[in-house]
Parts: sequence; structure tokens; C-alpha cells
Amino acid sequence: MADWSDFIQQIKRNNDIVDVIGSYLELRRTGANFMARCPFHGEKTPSFNVNRNLQIYKCFGCGESGDVIKFVEKYESCSFVEACEILAKRAGIPMPETSTTRDEKEYKERKAKKDAYFAICKDAAKFYWSIYRSEKGAVARSYMQGRGFDDVTVNKFGIGYSPDNFSLPSYLRSLGYNMQDCVKCGVLQIGQRGFTDALSGRLIVPIFNMQGQVIAFGGRGLDEYTIARGKYKNTAETPIFVKKDSLFAINIAKEQKQQTALPYLVVVEGYMDVIAMYQAGFKGAVASMGTSLTEQQAKWLSRLSDTVYICYDGDSAGQKATVRGLDILDRAGLEVRVMTVPEKLDPDEYIKKYGAEAFVGLIDDALPLPDYKLRLLERAFPINSSDPAQRNNALPKYVKGAITMLKSLDDVRQARYITAVSLTTGYSEDYFRRKLNEDGAETQEIIADNMSSEDKAKYFVAACVLHGEDYASVEDKPLCNTAFLSDLYDYLLDCKSKGTKPSVDMLYTVCPNAIEQQYAEIIDVDFSKAKYDVNKRYFEECKRLITVEKLKLRREELMKKIKNDPGNGKLLDELTALSKKITDIRYD
Ligand code: GTP
Ligand code: MN
Repeated sequence: MADWSDFIQQIKRNNDIVDVIGSYLELRRTGANFMARCPFHGEKTPSFNVNRNLQIYKCFGCGESGDVIKFVEKYESCSFVEACEILAKRAGIPMPETSTTRDEKEYKERKAKKDAYFAICKDAAKFYWSIYRSEKGAVARSYMQGRGFDDVTVNKFGIGYSPDNFSLPSYLRSLGYNMQDCVKCGVLQIGQRGFTDALSGRLIVPIFNMQGQVIAFGGRGLDEYTIARGKYKNTAETPIFVKKDSLFAINIAKEQKQQTALPYLVVVEGYMDVIAMYQAGFKGAVASMGTSLTEQQAKWLSRLSDTVYICYDGDSAGQKATVRGLDILDRAGLEVRVMTVPEKLDPDEYIKKYGAEAFVGLIDDALPLPDYKLRLLERAFPINSSDPAQRNNALPKYVKGAITMLKSLDDVRQARYITAVSLTTGYSEDYFRRKLNEDGAETQEIIADNMSSEDKAKYFVAACVLHGEDYASVEDKPLCNTAFLSDLYDYLLDCKSKGTKPSVDMLYTVCPNAIEQQYAEIIDVDFSKAKYDVNKRYFEECKRLITVEKLKLRREELMKKIKNDPGNGKLLDELTALSKKITDIRYD
């Protein structure tokens, strides 16, 4: 752990935030700082500020802020560790040993294998690409043209064509690849005829990972003979392609996010749906690979946007396995909305028939997940049927289903949907509340949007310590009522005990996943020389509030003791002293 925090300090020291962000965005100097157009929300005039002294960035438009690691995490849509890796590499610093790298030799071998597979997939993709654009690719080209796909789109997705069984194997052999490796990464098959192309005779749709590496292929049959063995054939599961965790076109959605910020993503079923949507201007479409959505996929999606539309063919979103997948997205914190495409059309067919504007209408009409679940319930249990017998029979079943649905909601949404369900069923709101309490409704810690003055005081005091103001001491620690504050004080106390100076740019490392307002309370304080006296006075004021709060807590504890032991004079004396102290501080 100690190694790891030294390591973080080291990569930060060797990756100046202005240099790093400057390599991604066009930065313009304004006084001591640098400005750019914010990559995290669409904007025309720059409000994204990079501060070289503090080594942090902040957008005054959307409030997004952080240090160099957080920038890379957000911009590359990767994890904290991956961001560290990128920065370490950039500065030529070796990664510290972790549990995954401990068994150095095995790890290196596995990594080397994977790198070989990536290289093979990349060269196979290049091969398919060039065949598609050669004489042999005429069938595939006219197929795509026939479906209305233009060259820009076809190129964007790297569409290719496999001419036959043996061309790819001999090409890969000519490049010196180990044939067994080509089989292990799913590109070739081995059989009686030797090595053959796993997707021979098919139109090739390459599948990329978030980093933009080719990991697999989808192959669409173009003639009846091939289609008879499956309209699509995908690369088998390999060490670099875990089908259930992959999302087709996630690389394109990521790229789009880097250009304009993505207001939402659309998850569809088919490759061709994604491609058709892209051409129609919907550049945040991805396809799940035929299975129910997984937590890993939810993670990819939530790195790119916080709203996900589900657009599945016909009725398939209503299937149980699918609803489970939607719950996984919901639990990952994504806002999930379900679209319904009429006439059992898929998105590609719908856009061809009715146009992109009509598709926007479907997006607008999408139902939030709870409403969608209620719609499914109503379909199963027709509580609005004109037949009274059917209605009465359906009602208790509908109510039961509704309670299950309500249980999955946070407090705020639950309150809203209790009202809605009560209206549609005629059962009282109290009935639903009672039912939910029976099973112990979970309460969620929600951080209030408007902080109280006590809270503001706590953040200010912490900010002064973090900035190393001479009047501020870590000993004035307040009651930490949020994870953010207790994490921050753990860090401040740790610095104190080690005798090191706390540093503002560590904020994003020691307090990950906080909300913008919490960061803002710390980094937006102006600690310039001119403000010294003002800050110092305000600090004393805040300290007073904090002390009063602590004393009040002591008083509460004391009163509890007195309740259990009413005759205890010593406790009563203590209480009187404490109360006096509180009033003294207050009116000092
Ligand atoms: P088009 O018919 O080319 O428009 O296909 P599509 O993109 O509309 O796909 P469809 O809705 O038919 O199927 C959805 C997804 O399921 C496809 O993109 C494939 O990933 C997968 N899929 C479809 N058919 C097959 C098949 O025969 N075998 C396998 N393994 N996967 C398939
Ligand atoms: Mn289709």
C-alpha cells in the first residue's frame, strides 16, 4: 500500500497536468492557467480550466474536476489502475507489483500470448479489409450497397470480406505467425483440410474493445448455402474475447464521447442495427452480443454515459433474461429507458422505412425502467380488462408484481411510483408502504444538494488543512458525516503522522467517487495571499461551529447516561459545565 501511494505521487510528479491534457486537447494560455473546450460536455466557448500550480482541472460549465489521473480515467473511459498505467508508461515509470503481477513470469507469458492474439486479429482484419476492396470483394460490396450502407460507414466499421478457406491461413503464415496461436485466437480452425478461415465466405464485421483493439469478428453469410449454417457466425470465445462481456461498437461510442460528450447510449441487438444507426446519425449505439447484459457490460456503458436506451427487436426486451439484464444496468447506476419499435421491425429496418426523425420519436417515447416493468405486468395481468372476472383475478397478481418492482427502487423513486401504482390499482399508498416495510426497505445515503452551514464549515476547515494554511491544524477534525470527509481526514492524519505535507492533487485519489459539490467545496477556495486574513477569520468561525457540534454530541451522550442514572450528581455537574461551554463558544 505504501508503495502504491509513493507510486501515485511519482507518476503525478512526472506527468504535468498541462502537458498531459495538452496532448489530448488544444489548450490556450490565460494568465497563470490554461483553458480548453470541455471534453466532458458539449460546449462552444471554453470553460475548462487547467491549473498548473494546483495540478488540477475544473470545468466551470459542467463542474467536472480532478487531477491528472482522473482526467485520463474520464477521457480514456478507463479504470483508475489503467489510467495509472497509461501515465506510468508515458513517464517511463514501472508499475508497482500487485497481486496480478506478483507471479511475474506467468503474468508476462499470459500478456505475451494476448499481445500475439491481438496482433493476429489486427492482421486478419487488415486482410479482410483489403479483400473487401479488391476484385474478390465485389459480392460483399454490392451486398452492403444493396442494404444502403455508404462507403464512409463501411470504412468506419472496418467491414471486410473473407474470400475462401485458405487465403487467410496462408497470409498469416507468410507473416510468420504461429498457426496454433491463430487457432487459439479464433481466427483459424484446424480440421481434416488443415488450417482454414473460421469465417470463410462471410462478410466480416470486426469487433473492437474499448482500447480500439480488434478482439473478434462477426461473419454474416451472404448466400443461402452459408446462411444455412447460421446467418452469423462469431469468433469463438478466446482469452481476448469474452463474448458476454463485450459490446460491439463500444470503441466508436467512446470516440464519439471524446468528440462531443454522449448524452445517451442505445443498446441494440444486431451489428447491422448499430451500423445503420451510425449512418443515420446515432453515434452512441452499441450491440450486446446476443446474451443477457452483464455487470461488466454495465461498467463499460457507465463509463461512457449515465443514460442508456434499450432498443431490442419486437418483444424480446420483455423476456425474463432481458429484464434481468436491465436490472443490472439499473443497479450500476445507469438511467435505463426501454424503447419499443413498432411492427416488429429492428432499428435498421425501422430507420430505412420511416427515417431518422421517426427514430428520434421512439427515443422520446421510451419508458423509464419502472414504467416499462409496469407495462409488462399489465400485459400479463390485464387489470383494465372489460371482463370483471378477469380483472379481479388479475389485480392481486399485478399488485404482487408491482411490490417486487417497487422494492428495486431508491427512496425517491419509490415514493413516486407508490403513488402511481396506488392510482392504477386502487390499493392505498399505505398498503404498499406497509408491504415494503415488512421486508425491510433499504434506506440509501443521499447527500443533500444544499449543504448546511455546519457541513460547509467542515469542508472549509479541511480545505485549509489540505492547502497547508499555517493557522489550520488537523487536530480540529470535525465529526465526519460523509465518506468524503472521513477519507480526507484519514489522509490528512496519515500525512501528519508521516510528517509529509498534504497535497491538493491527492484529493481525487484519496476521495474517489465523490460528487462534484464535495470536490468544489475543497478546491474552489481562493487561498491567494490577498485572501489570507479573510480566510483566517472565516476559519476561526468554522472551527467554532465544529466545536459546538462536537460538544452537542457529547451533551447528547451525557443526557442518555443521565436518563439511565438520574440521581448521579457528577453527571449533572458535567452537563451544566458542558452547556455553559456551548453557550460561551456561541456568544464569544
Ligand atoms: P441482419 O439480418 O444482417 O440485419 O442482422 P441483424 O444485425 O439485424 O441481427 P439479428 O437481429 O438478426 O440478430 C442479432 C444478433 O444476434 C446479430 O447481430 C448476431 O450477433 C446474432 N446472431 C444472429 N443470427 C445469428 C446466428 O445465426 N448465429 C449466431 N451465432 N449469432 C447470430
Ligand atoms: Mn437486421
